[in-house]
Amino acid sequence: MSKHNAISKINDKSARIVVVGIGYVGLPLVVEFARAGYRVTGYDKDAGKVQLLNSGESYIGDIASQDLAPFVKRGLLSASSDPAVLKDADAVVVCVPTPLNKTKDPDMRFIVSATEEIAAHQHKGMLIVLESTTYPGTTREVLVPKLTRGYEIGKDVFVAFSPERVDPGNLRYNTRNTPKVIGGTTPSCLEVAQALYARIIDTVVPVTSTDSAEMVKLLENTFRAVNIALVNEVAMMSRRLGIDAWEVIRAAATKPFGYMPFFPGPGLGGHCIPVDPLYLSWKLRSLKFQARFIELADAVNSAMPEYVVSRVTDALNTHEKAVRGAKILIAGVAYKPDVSDVRESPAFDVISGLVRLGAQVNYVDPHVPEFDEAGSQMQSVSPFASFAEYDAVVIVTHHRAFDYERMLREAKLIVDTRDALRSVAGDRAKIATL
Ligand SMILES: NC(=O)c1ccc[n+]([C@@H]2O[C@H](COP(=O)([O-])OP(=O)(O)OC[C@H]3O[C@@H](n4cnc5c(N)ncnc54)[C@H](O)[C@@H]3O)[C@@H](O)[C@H]2O)c1
Repeated sequence: MSKHNAISKINDKSARIVVVGIGYVGLPLVVEFARAGYRVTGYDKDAGKVQLLNSGESYIGDIASQDLAPFVKRGLLSASSDPAVLKDADAVVVCVPTPLNKTKDPDMRFIVSATEEIAAHQHKGMLIVLESTTYPGTTREVLVPKLTRGYEIGKDVFVAFSPERVDPGNLRYNTRNTPKVIGGTTPSCLEVAQALYARIIDTVVPVTSTDSAEMVKLLENTFRAVNIALVNEVAMMSRRLGIDAWEVIRAAATKPFGYMPFFPGPGLGGHCIPVDPLYLSWKLRSLKFQARFIELADAVNSAMPEYVVSRVTDALNTHEKAVRGAKILIAGVAYKPDVSDVRESPAFDVISGLVRLGAQVNYVDPHVPEFDEAGSQMQSVSPFASFAEYDAVVIVTHHRAFDYERMLREAKLIVDTRDALRSVAGDRAKIATL
C-alpha cells in the first residue's frame, strides 16, 4: 500500500522533496523539481548557500538567478540548514561530496552523516535516493543498514541509487535531457524512484540493482580517465616521432564507427574523473583484485603537470632562457574551459612545479579572479593586460573568452597544452605543444 501511496503523491505532485547537498549537482536538481511543480527544499550545512538560494541567487555557472528566483518567490523552492526539514519529506535525494582522503581512499563521511540525519527523521512511505558517485555496494552496505531500523525496505521505505551525470558548462545536455540510470534495492524501490525521476527527466534507464547503477557511473568515468591517459601518452609518443598528435586524433575521428576522440591535456581535473575511478580500485583491492587500467591511467594522468613543466623548460631553453627567474603567465586555472571550478585543477601542480624551479608565475583567468589552493593564494592579472611582458605564456585551460589572436601577436613564447591556437593566424614558430 505504501508503494502506491508514494507513487500517487509523486504523480499528483503533493510529494515534498528534500535535496541533501545543494552544490553543483544538487542545485540544478532542486530547480528541475520546482520547475515540475514540486515543493522542494535544499538542505545544506553551508549557511552561505542556503542564504543565497533563499534570496533567489544562484552560485553556480549553469544556473541563472532568474531561473530560480521565480520558484523561490512562489514558495516552491527554499533552502535550510536545519535537518528537521527531512521530517516532512516524501522523497530525499542525496547529493553530498565523495572525495578522497589523504591516502587516496574513499572519504565516506558525508554520505554517512547525511544517511544518519535521514534515518533520524525517517517515516513510512519515504523514498531515499543516493546520487553521489561512489563504489559499488555503498547503497546496500552503508545506507540500507541505517535505514532498516524498524522499517522494511521496499514496503515501508524505498531506497535507490541514481548516478548524477551533470556536465558543468555543457550547453547541449542538461538535467532534463540527459538519460538517468536508476537501480532500486527492491523492484518496488525502483518503481517509486522511476516515478519520481520520470517527472523531471526525459529518459530514465532502469537497471536491476543499486550495485549495478553505482558501477555504471564508475564505468563511464573510468572510460574517460583511461582514454585520456591513452591520448596523453600518444601525445608524448608523437613528440618523439615528430608527429602532430592533434592532427592524428582529429583524422582518426573521421572514422564513422568504432572510434571516439579524446584529447591530450595538462592533466585531469574536476571533482569526478581524477577521483571516481579510485573509488572502484579501492573497492576491488578489498576483494584482492588489482584494477590495473585504473592505476596505470592514474599514474599517466597524474604525471602530466610535471610533463608540462618540462615542456616549458625545453621551450624556454630553445629561446636561450632558464626557468629560474623567467616570468611566466599561466592562461586558465579552471579545470576545464568556460567554468570557474578549480577543484583538482592540474594548473596548481603546473604553477607549483614552475615556482619550485624559480620562475615568477602569474595567472590570468576571466572565470577565476582569485584562488586559495594547496597553500598558495593568487589573484588573476587583468585579461586585458599585455602578454608581451612574459617570457612564456602557458595555456592550461582553453577558455573561449581569451583573445588568442592578441596572445599570439604579443607573447614571446606560448606553450599550448590544449591545441587552442590551431587555427589562429600568426607567427607559429612561437608555439610549443605538449
Ligand atoms: N560536480 C560534478 O560535475 C559532478 C558530476 C557528476 C557527479 N558528481 C557527484 O555528485 C556528488 C556531489 O558533487 P558536487 O559537485 O555537487 O559537490 P559540492 O561540493 O558542489 O556540493 C555538495 C554539497 O553538500 C553539502 N553537504 C555535505 N555534507 C552534508 C550533509 N551531511 N548534509 C547536508 N549537506 C551536506 C556541502 O555543504 C555542499 O554544499 C559527488 O559524489 C560527485 O562525485 C558531481
